[in-house]
Amino acid sequence: MSRIAYVNGRYRPHREAMIHVEDRGFQFADGVYEVCEVRGGRLVDERRHMARLTRSLDALRIDLPMSLAALGIVLRETVRRNRVRDGLVYLQVTRGSARRDHGFPPAGTAPGMVVTARSLDPARGERSAADGIAVITVPDNRWARVDIKATSLLPNVLAKQAAREQGAREAWFVDASGLVTEGSSSNAWIVTAGDEVVTRPADHSILKGISRAVVLDAVAALGLTFVERAFTAKEAQGAREAFVTAASQIVQPVVRIDGKPIGDGHPGPVAIALRREFHRHAELS
Ligand code: PDD
Repeated sequence: MSRIAYVNGRYRPHREAMIHVEDRGFQFADGVYEVCEVRGGRLVDERRHMARLTRSLDALRIDLPMSLAALGIVLRETVRRNRVRDGLVYLQVTRGSARRDHGFPPAGTAPGMVVTARSLDPARGERSAADGIAVITVPDNRWARVDIKATSLLPNVLAKQAAREQGAREAWFVDASGLVTEGSSSNAWIVTAGDEVVTRPADHSILKGISRAVVLDAVAALGLTFVERAFTAKEAQGAREAFVTAASQIVQPVVRIDGKPIGDGHPGPVAIALRREFHRHAELS
């Protein structure tokens, strides 16, 4: 089956899905994006993803080229045309296409928008969760507003590649004070010896994950203690458990950090329980 992408008002076969050479997303990474899980053909937590999209767009003063209701239709239509039951839908909105100039383009320049969808095998995610993943740590060399879900992901790309080259699945960024900020494409969590579930406060130093919010609800429902504070890589290495969260991962146990086994080196019970509980607290639409 050929894949279909939505590009600036048209549904196109992938090989014909093109943006203009002067699209500012291409020239300057001047755009924002969202990634939403698709489950049983339905969108997971669309409302919260759309709220974050609006916040990112407002922060960068980019207009959404259509209403949120119309965008919901495009997302669903892209999922439908690609026959995705379980997978991901991606959305990028850029400041549009105009003669190259760092300053904003002339008023009236239409924003650009691309939507793509792809299937994922849920069994693969489950297998990976059963094994757990390895993580490396890297210096956080990103800009100071990573709470905006911007398409400028070069440090994240390099961090993920460094992880892969070291046989790991994720890289955790560590700030100048030695504190873990987040993963290259996920939020970072630990479970302490005192059974506290810990993640960093969602200030400007991390992306406030939608899955993070879902897991917070699951933590409360399971009667677990939640503490919002930063932790060092060393504390994480000595923690009872560690895990990451993202729309593309749900909850993924971490079993090694910089080569050191976490706990007994196997996925821990809290991460497993939160993964099992996850979709009870996510909204389907
Ligand atoms: N990444 N932090 C970063 C840097 C991320 O890129 C992501 C998501 C998250 C988790 O956010 P959420 O729970 O809303 O997915 C945290 C997406 C999946 C990606 O870029 O592919």
